[in-house]
Amino acid sequence: MVVLGIETSCDETGLALVEYSPGGVFTVTREVLASQVSLHELYGGVVPELASREHMRSLPILSSELFKGSGCSVRDLAAIAVTCGPGLKGCLLIGVMFAAGISSATGIPLFPVNHIEGHILSAELHNPTLRAPYLALVVSGGHTELVRVQGVGRYSIVHRTQDDAAGEAFDKSANLLGLPYPGGPRLAALADSVTTSRFTLPKVAREISDFSFSGLKTAVMLLVQRNKDVLEQEPAAKAELAWAVQNAILDPLIVKTVREVRRTKLPLAVCGGVSANKELRKRLIAECGEDQVIFPPMKHCVDNGAMIAYTAARYLAEGIAAPPLDIKSRWPVELLSSEMS
Ligand code: KG4
Ligand code: ZN
Repeated sequence: MVVLGIETSCDETGLALVEYSPGGVFTVTREVLASQVSLHELYGGVVPELASREHMRSLPILSSELFKGSGCSVRDLAAIAVTCGPGLKGCLLIGVMFAAGISSATGIPLFPVNHIEGHILSAELHNPTLRAPYLALVVSGGHTELVRVQGVGRYSIVHRTQDDAAGEAFDKSANLLGLPYPGGPRLAALADSVTTSRFTLPKVAREISDFSFSGLKTAVMLLVQRNKDVLEQEPAAKAELAWAVQNAILDPLIVKTVREVRRTKLPLAVCGGVSANKELRKRLIAECGEDQVIFPPMKHCVDNGAMIAYTAARYLAEGIAAPPLDIKSRWPVELLSSEMS
């Protein structure tokens, strides 16, 4: 049985074929990805309209590349899995319309997938022994939540951001420091070049039960304005400010996640683009132990088609009904279980 996965929720067009056998063996047989970073770089962030158009341009090209030499044709598919939310509505619409076109021409069923569930289950794709219950920290440019995983389609939120996502906080702070888009990895590299900082930033989120990063932007902006001269003249000052920013973002994530790991004694999966952060990895492993923390490989931490195909394949293999087909820019992952019943 082969499932095609289509991901277009933001600025990556991802397609993949995932094969599964009734015995529960899942294999990513092929995958392709087109990143739009260079397109949006000019504007310092994702421009939704441009992103939609680029998905429209890339999808037919990527899909012929995917099937070419795969030994599989569209008519062999068991299902066409497509991200229906959360994400940019126009981008989701392009992916769903593309999938619906193939479905209506071939009669192969569509399978709607929640993007966050895709990120979470990417940890199981690479660790077949990992099964619920476990905790998943989803940290990306659009999402920041600590989730308790009870099974496929069954999630509850432990902590979620009230405002900006962690990746967004990295990117916006990097922008204030004059680093090019996407600034997160650049800010992290700068931060890792020093071990301390003359700057301090408020750690607001420690006092509240959820995560919150929007106040950080203002604090960084004020520090940049007040220290304009020193930041321009001393390269070390910029690195130290990056260090303070990285700490201010990671600290609440690590403190709250480690507390929950210790309380529940559950394994932890860390997914999403920010899980590439070296300091986050180092500190979570140091606090929880190497055996307790799972990081999917980088290509499946960022948005990709494999996690979408794999999610649908898990539902199909376990005989769980698909979520309703509806394009939703906001689709909290914990609502999946109520939609299933
Ligand atoms: O999962 P992803 O590729 O896309 C979505 O947002 O869904 O995540 C991208 C985010 C960006 O905000 C980027 O700056 C951040 O992940 N990121 C990092 C690092 N690498 C990527 N943030 C901090 N440190 C990194 N090394
Ligand atoms: Zn994502």
